[in-house]
Amino acid sequence: MGARVLLLLLLAAAMASAPTAHAWGKEGHYMVCKIAEGFLTTEAATAVKELLPGWAGGELAETCSWADTERFRYRWSSPLHFADTPGDCQFNYARDCHNTNGEKDMCVVGAINNYTNALKDSSSPYDPTESLMFLAHFVGDVHQPLHCGHVKDLGGNTIIVHWYTRKSNLHHVWDVNVIETALKEFYNEDVSTMIKAIKMNITDEWSTEEKKWETCRSRTKTYDYFFAALPIVQKRIAQGGVRLAAILNRIFSGNKVQSS
Ligand SMILES: *[C@@H]1O[C@H](CO)[C@@H](O)[C@H](O)[C@H]1NC(C)=O
Ligand SMILES: *[C@@H]1O[C@H](CO)[C@@H](O)[C@H](O)[C@H]1NC(C)=O
Repeated sequence: MGARVLLLLLLAAAMASAPTAHAWGKEGHYMVCKIAEGFLTTEAATAVKELLPGWAGGELAETCSWADTERFRYRWSSPLHFADTPGDCQFNYARDCHNTNGEKDMCVVGAINNYTNALKDSSSPYDPTESLMFLAHFVGDVHQPLHCGHVKDLGGNTIIVHWYTRKSNLHHVWDVNVIETALKEFYNEDVSTMIKAIKMNITDEWSTEEKKWETCRSRTKTYDYFFAALPIVQKRIAQGGVRLAAILNRIFSGNKVQSS
């Protein structure tokens, strides 16, 4: 018991000081996956449930931060959480998608392809449960606006800022602080209330765009502080959820084409 608590404390300390960029905190990933669950076809929902580990209690959203906790066991997976560029913020797959050893495809875009293909291919040697959990996490990550950050500041990780009275960094502001403040100020500290508000916008405010999110990319260039950032964060979470569902629906619907 004592040793376990100590281990958890050490792990928490290691995570707090980990310099590498990874996107969305626990709440962000949970919301993306919770939104995705609502957009799955019956077929895809069944296939996803069958692949979930027992500890997920039948909920995809419970597994969506798994990839962050495994970063210490699977060190090779660290660069898969983001895709930084040398300076122009024009992501170029051939040039930018690699790890620090120059190994190709080792970035968040390569990882999404990797685990999509693994789930589609029943002869893939990769563990399908892990592939699902990685895919669900990385589709969330790729929607965090600083995923297209600059290599030299590690996607904003080395840019120190103040978030109200606390010291933070720009990457962390987008991963965690905006969502945390929104939960406190507007959503009564209740993630499900925030999810409900975002979902309402998907069927209402963004209903004409939602179908397009399943196939197109959109870019977010602007960033400012809380009131400028929050609508962007909420929309990126919505897009992440809708697109994750679209990917899973395509993977698990055999040859059936979803009407779009
Ligand atoms: C693809 O997935 C396998 C199994 O998890 C992993 O070893 C490999 O590094 C991954 N590659 C990419 C580009 O994600
Ligand atoms: C709903 O959409 C409006 C307009 O785009 C935006 O300002 C607001 O932040 C959104 N709210 C949520 C909860 O997504």
